[in-house]
Amino acid sequence: MSVVSRLGRPLRQDRLTLLLLLTCLALMTKVYVMLYDTPEDTPPTPRSSAELLDNPQESSLPLSSASHRSRREASDPESGTRTVYVITATYPRPEQEADLVRLSQTLMHAAPFLFWVVVEDAPQRTPALAELLERSGLRYVHLIAEVPELALPRPRFWGRVPRGVASRNTGLSWVRSHATAGVVYFADDDNSYDIRIFTEIQKTRGVSVFPVGLVTELGVSSPVVIGGQVTDFYDGWHGGRRFPIDMAGFAVSVTLLKQRPNAAMPYRAGYEEDGFLKELGVTREDLQPLADECSQILVWHTRTEKVAPIRPADLNKFQGSNIVALMDHLLPMKA
Ligand code: UGA
Ligand code: MN
Repeated sequence: MSVVSRLGRPLRQDRLTLLLLLTCLALMTKVYVMLYDTPEDTPPTPRSSAELLDNPQESSLPLSSASHRSRREASDPESGTRTVYVITATYPRPEQEADLVRLSQTLMHAAPFLFWVVVEDAPQRTPALAELLERSGLRYVHLIAEVPELALPRPRFWGRVPRGVASRNTGLSWVRSHATAGVVYFADDDNSYDIRIFTEIQKTRGVSVFPVGLVTELGVSSPVVIGGQVTDFYDGWHGGRRFPIDMAGFAVSVTLLKQRPNAAMPYRAGYEEDGFLKELGVTREDLQPLADECSQILVWHTRTEKVAPIRPADLNKFQGSNIVALMDHLLPMKA
């Protein structure tokens, strides 16, 4: 005679149901943890973390340039102390120093909780940039992009070559192996940033999204938000993308990044953001709108006008003058 439960079903069946329920619960917890990490994540302690041991450049860097206001915010539990890893793809050109002076001095306002991952698309580090980073007082790492041989950039989109992809992927690998918590944000070197964007980004659970000004003739690229939910995308070019989002319009938690160790940016112009977000395994419903439910613009996709290649000075004519030093400084950037 079989043992029968209160509901009349055999006990064996009840056990099975319980087991199934427990498995479901475990799976749901796993999926939740995979998609979100909490804003209470503690940032790595810069002085003792592996990232400093791995990078001697950083160990001598004081945080002295942090503004008073940023310091106050960093110690405020409400605004959080989560580290924001800003990945900047950059390459040597005459405008590089001007762009990076502007960007570095913007980032200084968020210095206490910011870590700058600068990745140069060049065979070696540009000396003027190395000096600029050192002077900034920011926590940083200065890397060279690793272009995988089998993934050399190929023009696929109206002849356009994707830019900055190897740099961003190199930056992602660095963050995966050096960070334990925090948020990642891709800040191209020529955009314009309101410093409030960096404290907003600290709230990122899985993937956060926000408007970017000056994208296409629409003037802005933004998620459409209704009642706190992303329902669509307002963008001048959809191109069959699931996530028509600008590179400057999203941030990702380090936890999610590490849970998707192979998620990378594709070498496909116009589809870098979309490809990466798809590989992170998120859905539109998972996107977390920031910047007052996407009603404020805190970043603009500006572009620096390109200048003509630099013509070296006739050093015979200027021997013994300041022009020699100026040329020493400028020429590594002329590429
Ligand atoms: C747009 C998109 O916003 C970028 O996300 C995208 O990577 C790029 O187009 C593209 O064509 O794929 P846009 O402002 O037009 O950006 O491009 P750039 O500012 O010239 O380049 C984007 C970033 O990549 C910059 O930070 C730039 O310094 C860097 N870059 C550019 C390199 O690292 N290597 C290069 O050869 C060119
Ligand atoms: Mn740009």
